[in-house]
This record gives sequence, structure tokens and C-alpha cells, in this order.
Amino acid sequence: MDWCESMPKIELHAHLNGSIRDSTLLELARALGDKGVIDFSQVEHVILKNDRSLSEVFKLFDLIHIVTTDHSSITRITKEAVEDFASENVVYLELRTTPKKNDSLGMSKRSYVEAVLDGLRAVSSVVVAFTPYKVEPGNLSSPLFSGVNDKYNGNPRKRIFVRLLLSIDRRETTEAAMETVILALEMRHFGVVGIDLSGNPAVGEWMTYLPALKFAREQGLHVTLHCGEVLNSKEIHDMLDFLPQRIGHACFFEEEHWKRLKSSNIPVEICLTSNIRTLSVPTIDAHHFADLYNAKHPLVLCTDDSGVFSTCLSNEYKIAASSFGLGRKEMFELSKNAIEFIFADNVVKGDLRKTFYSAAENVEL
Ligand code: IMP
Ligand code: ZN
Repeated sequence: MDWCESMPKIELHAHLNGSIRDSTLLELARALGDKGVIDFSQVEHVILKNDRSLSEVFKLFDLIHIVTTDHSSITRITKEAVEDFASENVVYLELRTTPKKNDSLGMSKRSYVEAVLDGLRAVSSVVVAFTPYKVEPGNLSSPLFSGVNDKYNGNPRKRIFVRLLLSIDRRETTEAAMETVILALEMRHFGVVGIDLSGNPAVGEWMTYLPALKFAREQGLHVTLHCGEVLNSKEIHDMLDFLPQRIGHACFFEEEHWKRLKSSNIPVEICLTSNIRTLSVPTIDAHHFADLYNAKHPLVLCTDDSGVFSTCLSNEYKIAASSFGLGRKEMFELSKNAIEFIFADNVVKGDLRKTFYSAAENVEL
């Protein structure tokens, strides 16, 4: 585990509200209980329960959203999520979140995303680079990170790149999905690089989101889809027809879907703990990681919801090592290969390659 922690890692599938710390969730819930907004005694056990089915996970998300959806909580959980990932040597993080509207709190989708950006700016224990790199005229050597050599508590601060994906929830209408895409386009200079389709896979129809997803792609945003989280053969085919740049999960794929996935080479975001906890795969030994890995299909290990599933990225690598026999070299390669699937630009990719290159000299492979 220590070794998995020491290795540089890339996280490409992390939902902001799913990455909330248990301690923060309990604290925020208790505060709302004190105000009489919720009955804390009724929700405490929901938060502390560890083995949830997929439908229970979505009930928990409804609760998390009641507890977190005000600007200051969103800012706080963003800051904490980035700190937590950086502390285990995640060097590039794509954080995804569903912009939410809440009139009673004066919250618009835009102000929600601004609260997330405030969270990125509030991080002080690590150096965060989240805006796209621009080469200023006459200053070709602008640093990717400012204050890289800064110290925090006497130690050099770690560095992390963060990029944002805005999620469309499967409960949303075509118009609401389009609003999210337009917001993402307007926020590109703040590091928003793409769109994700997520939410309860038992809800909603693929066709509802297609206009917004097509528009996103035409405008140059990257798209990743939660795909095959439940058995829905037609939807999986339709999603593969769309040729997203990445997909998440792929748990309920059938022979025909695997063939199409493999021939299209679409990278898969694999979330082992999440899939096991939600019973989307029967056992870890039956997980499709092994087949995709052996077929050298592009894939990346991710956490999905580190808070909800009590995991972290180092733990996902540890599970892959113990379940599928990966050695240090294989884990390092798996982690490094993810550089090729990130949605940030080539300058960031180049910087990450250097990070892995120098780490290869220092971590025992
Ligand atoms: P948020 O977008 O920051 O609010 O993160 C939580 C949201 O992410 C949930 O309400 C879902 O819409 C989505 N999400 C988290 N985990 C999953 C998953 O396993 N499948 C599908 N959607 C998910
Ligand atoms: Zn997910």
C-alpha cells in the first residue's frame, strides 16, 4: 500500500460529491440537524453504512446533495477532495460534478461551478494548476505551476494538475443538459475540459442527452459516458456508436459490445471497489479488468466515489495488484499510460511524462 501511495497517479473518474470525507459529511449533516432541516438520528446510519447496493448509493447521493448543496460546502468539499488526492500522490485529477440550481439558496449552475473554482483556489497545502497553460508572448518559459518551490509546514509542497468535467444527470431534460454544455464552454478558460453523462442508470433515455453531447463534441469539449452500469444492450450500442473519448464502468457488456469496444479502442475508466460494492460485478475475480488488461485495451484505474465507497486511488492499485497479480512495474506502467487518455492539452501531458520519468528513477520498480 505504501508503495502504491508513493507512485505518481492519475485520477480520471472522481465525482466531487462522492469524494466527500465521511467526517465532513457527518459534520455538515449534524449542523443541518441542529438547524432542524434534517433529522440527524435518521441519517447518521445511512452515512455510516458501508455496503450499499447501487440504488442505495443513489439514495445516499440525494442525502449528500441536501447536506452539501450550498456554495460554502461545495467550496469546502472541493478543497478537501483535491488535498486528499494530492496527499496520495495523484499528480493529475479530473474532477467531475453536476452543476446544480437551487433558487432558495440563490444558486445557479454557474455560481455552483464558481464555488468549485473557489475550492481549487482555496487549497494551500499543495500547489494546484487548474487553468489551461497559455504561452505568453515573449515569455515562452512561463511555469505551469507558480510557487512550485513553496514550502508548507517546512516541506516542499506537492503539485497537482486539476481539470473539471461538468456532469449531466440522467434525471435532467435536454434543455438542462444543453445549459450545462454551454456553461462548460464558457468556463473553458477556468479548466473545464469536458462533459460526463452520469446519474442513476435506471433513469432516463439516451436520446434525451444526445443533442447536448453532440453539441459539446462539435464545440471541442471532451465527452465521457457512464456506460453499461446496468443491462441495457441497446443503450450500450448507441453509446458506442457515439464514439465517446472515454467510457466509465462497462460492467454489463455482452460479447458483441466487447468486440465493438475493443475495435474502437475507447479507453475504459475502471472503478473496482465501486463495481464490487454496488454488485455491478459478482466478484473481483470475475471483473472485466483482467480481460481488458490482457487484451492491452486502454484502461485507467479510478475511484468513482472515494468517500461513498471508502477507498482511495492507491487502494484501487493495491486491489488490482493483489487480485490480478500486477507487479510494481505493471502498476507503474498502468498509471503512466493514463497520461494518454487525459482531457488536458499536450503541454500538461508533456509535464506529466517528465514527472513519471523522474519518478521511475526514484521509486523501487
Ligand atoms: P456530484 O456530481 O458532484 O453531485 O457527484 C455525485 C453525483 O455523481 C451523483 O448524484 C450521480 O449523479 C453521479 N454518480 C456518482 N457515482 C455514480 C455512479 O456510480 N454511477 C452513476 N452516477 C454516479
Ligand atoms: Zn461514476
